[in-house]
Amino acid sequence: MQKQKLNSKDTLLNLLENNRGRYFSGEELANELGISRSMIWKNISLLRSEGYNISAANNRGYCLEQSSDVLTESGIRKYLSANQFDINVVHTIESTNAYVQEQALRGKSQGFVVLADEQTDGKGRCGRSFYSPNASGLYMSVLLQPSGEIAKEPWIVTIMTAVAMCETIEELTGKSAKIKWFNDIFVEGKKVCGILTQGTLDIESGLTNNIVLGVGLNVYKPIGGFPAELSGVAGWVCDDQQEDMKNKLAAVFLQKFWSAYTQQLFLISKEKYRKRSLVIGKKLTLIDGVKKESVTCIDVDDRCRLVVTDWLGKEKTISFGNISIRLEN
Ligand code: BTN
Repeated sequence: MQKQKLNSKDTLLNLLENNRGRYFSGEELANELGISRSMIWKNISLLRSEGYNISAANNRGYCLEQSSDVLTESGIRKYLSANQFDINVVHTIESTNAYVQEQALRGKSQGFVVLADEQTDGKGRCGRSFYSPNASGLYMSVLLQPSGEIAKEPWIVTIMTAVAMCETIEELTGKSAKIKWFNDIFVEGKKVCGILTQGTLDIESGLTNNIVLGVGLNVYKPIGGFPAELSGVAGWVCDDQQEDMKNKLAAVFLQKFWSAYTQQLFLISKEKYRKRSLVIGKKLTLIDGVKKESVTCIDVDDRCRLVVTDWLGKEKTISFGNISIRLEN
């Protein structure tokens, strides 16, 4: 992922980006860029295939619509106040988590971020897959190399992520976001975001050295909707396309998460996580492989474990791991 010199397509995009909502004739663009009108047309087609909303009108030419929302590195940087991330945006990838894991082994360091428009093999928890269709979502992985308490208690990264993502959704969409223990974010009763945090352990010290934090957010309804098995459970955070929404969501999330992570805000993050819990007081099914058990959740404790009572009223604590839960009606 080397940064390359701008080609004619990128130069055209910069011009349109800097003048959203304004029409340019084919001739004007050709003169401005010093290329032929047929090259302009070819580049416009390429940009459209990447998701840019470019209108064409007789006698007026081409215009990048105000509402165009395409994930780009420069688009994300516009909304970041500092430069602490190495941001890489790709169109299609198998899995951003798998790619960042690979890059960590090749020497990339903390703050390396990969975002994609689409994943062909998106990974979810417990070996499941994560549906990651083109253009409607934000699929992002961040490499972390924790020190101090976080290296000893790496699970806090998932907690900080869930809180940062809920706050981001609320700030940018005005919708209330809740956490279904322990890594799903719900808006209006539907799952809109999943978090997959994967780490490697340094055996000698017993500390976690590399963490890949993966976040998949359904920003819009996918073109053609969700597949049947997801249609009742999956939701999205924006009904209509909005200017730069994906870039804003990525930047605001990165900033909020980074602030909690670098300051090691354990207590505040745990308290915020508990307050946003969707499960306290609810009946749940615990699913552990083929084993299922009905319980009632009475609390989320100070290590963010689930405190439940079983059908006999006996209390027990459930830690993270390969357990997943289902809310009962
Ligand atoms: C889950 O809901 O089980 C977790 C889903 C995590 C999905 C994200 S999308 C970006 C990153 N890359 C992946 O392959 N998975 C995570």
